[in-house]
Amino acid sequence: MKIVTYPHPTLRHVSKPIRRLDAELRQHIQEMFDLMYAAKGIGLAANQVDLPLRFFICNLAGERGQGEELVFLNPVLSRHKGQSIREEGCLSMPGLYAPVRRPETVHLEAYGLDGSAISLDLDEMMARVVQHEVDHLDGVLFTDRLSDTVEMDVKPMLYEFELDYESRQHTGEIPDNGVIAARLAELEEQYAILS
Ligand code: CO
Repeated sequence: MKIVTYPHPTLRHVSKPIRRLDAELRQHIQEMFDLMYAAKGIGLAANQVDLPLRFFICNLAGERGQGEELVFLNPVLSRHKGQSIREEGCLSMPGLYAPVRRPETVHLEAYGLDGSAISLDLDEMMARVVQHEVDHLDGVLFTDRLSDTVEMDVKPMLYEFELDYESRQHTGEIPDNGVIAARLAELEEQYAILS
């Protein structure tokens, strides 16, 4: 397992809710925490590790053994209120940081790893992270939410990512899009609610 980078097609995949959680998926979640800490991140969505499933992990402390390790399955956001602008980055776009305007507070409904229902009113950093990660699950990247002027500034970096991705696909390091899509369909069949 590894973190995929922009413009990997799985980052544009709209993930479907999970209907079961088996030992293999639990193992994937543990590996995701390893990858997230190694990359110095505080949140990681399933499609960032090439899984088409509706969940994400986070730990605001960003370090193993500190803070709280959270897993949110089938998250749903509501009651968006206010506005704030904060700088964001993304493990799928290493080195790119930009200010993003988002609602300041949000309500989150989800399930935990033990199947318990989660219902939280979030603000500050947690509201920010959760919105960024749920966006991932809908195939949305933070660079889709920039102001026009900031978008102009980051365009050259996005283009660099695109060139790099293209060359890695040419060398066969990254499979072609048909192979990636087939694998996603197989995983959805296995874990997701298909309706
Ligand atoms: Co991200």
